[in-house]
Amino acid sequence: MTTPTSVEAQPAESVRGAAPARRAAPCGTAAPVTAPRVLARCRDLVRPSLSSALARLHPWPGEMAAYALGWCGAHGAPTDGSFEGKGLRQALAVLCAEAVEAPGETAAAGAVAVELIHTFSLLHDDIMDGDGTRRQRETVWKAYGTGPAVLAGDALLALAVQTLTETPGPHAAAAVGRLSGTMSALVRGQAEDLLFAARPWTGPEAVRADEYRTMAELKTGTLLGCSAALGALLGGAPPPTVAALDRAGRHLGVAFQAVDDLLGIWGDPAVTGKPVYSDLRQRKKTYPVLAALAADGPRTEELVALLDSPVTLDDAGAARAAALVESCGGRAATLAEAGHHLDAARACLRSVSLGPRAAHEMEVLLGFLLHRRM
Ligand code: IPE
Ligand code: IPE
Ligand code: MG
Ligand code: MG
Repeated sequence: MTTPTSVEAQPAESVRGAAPARRAAPCGTAAPVTAPRVLARCRDLVRPSLSSALARLHPWPGEMAAYALGWCGAHGAPTDGSFEGKGLRQALAVLCAEAVEAPGETAAAGAVAVELIHTFSLLHDDIMDGDGTRRQRETVWKAYGTGPAVLAGDALLALAVQTLTETPGPHAAAAVGRLSGTMSALVRGQAEDLLFAARPWTGPEAVRADEYRTMAELKTGTLLGCSAALGALLGGAPPPTVAALDRAGRHLGVAFQAVDDLLGIWGDPAVTGKPVYSDLRQRKKTYPVLAALAADGPRTEELVALLDSPVTLDDAGAARAAALVESCGGRAATLAEAGHHLDAARACLRSVSLGPRAAHEMEVLLGFLLHRRM
């Protein structure tokens, strides 16, 4: 198992494993706050704790976990690029500790736990979704096989709980309680996501927008909310502040999932690192498609016929479906939905008193998430 060393080789504004925050600004001027810099600063802060946590795993699942985190190639080979995730969840934990005037390090165990849970959930999600590519390379189940990948996910989940249980200070029990509630919610969300695929596109059994929102909050929002809440909790914040940051993270999660759905249709796989059209091919009830069908115009019939076709959509069919979703307004409606939830997240953040630097950094992150390309 290896940890990355050559982060300076990454482009300055990359959000994947770059560390531009450590570069000195020229002539003593402060470097502008950008999302990649915020993410990199938090990643650097959490890295030693994450690395020590991973070292506790059995070497085999430990190697798969390191691969999933982008720290090594398949079977422990060194990496020649950056394959890390954006690190949003660990950043939220650190920023929310800082926002309640505690050092970011106070949230380290929480940040490690949520990043491990995120990695676990992606690892199992790729098996459930049958996706073979993530972060520009083979998913763990593709590289190691399904059984070993399930085991690696289990190992990450157990390690997350163990890490948080052992966090020093008086908040360990409350933190573990939050994390386990989040896990149950995430499982509910994934269950809904999978069951939605069998529901019809139209008619009384069709998935409604409010059902989508509930599913997205469960599968994605609860972990973002938990990340923010754990940072504040471990930082010693009072319960109303913890609750407000949890709500902010949940709204952020719904927005984040809607944008993830957009990227699954119109994103550039070379940038997202994930396959394009996979959701369309699997009949996933993503927000852009649901919004397009809600328009109920003449082109929705063609769209439903394509989505309902008994054969797997080929590239041309998927591209046609994407064009129809766009012309029926699904793309614009999704951006509007994400914008609405980001505004709600901002309102939650403004409802409590937060340290100005961390509050500004969170605001910068929120802006980035709507227009991200990965
Ligand atoms: C992807 O999350 C899965 C969702 C919850 C939408 P991220 O987009 O945060 O994944 P990485 O960690 O940056 O790869
Ligand atoms: C995201 O699932 C939520 C979880 C992993 C729990 P998706 O299936 O929507 O995410 P991607 O697009 O594969 O990253
Ligand atoms: Mg998936
Ligand atoms: Mg999924």
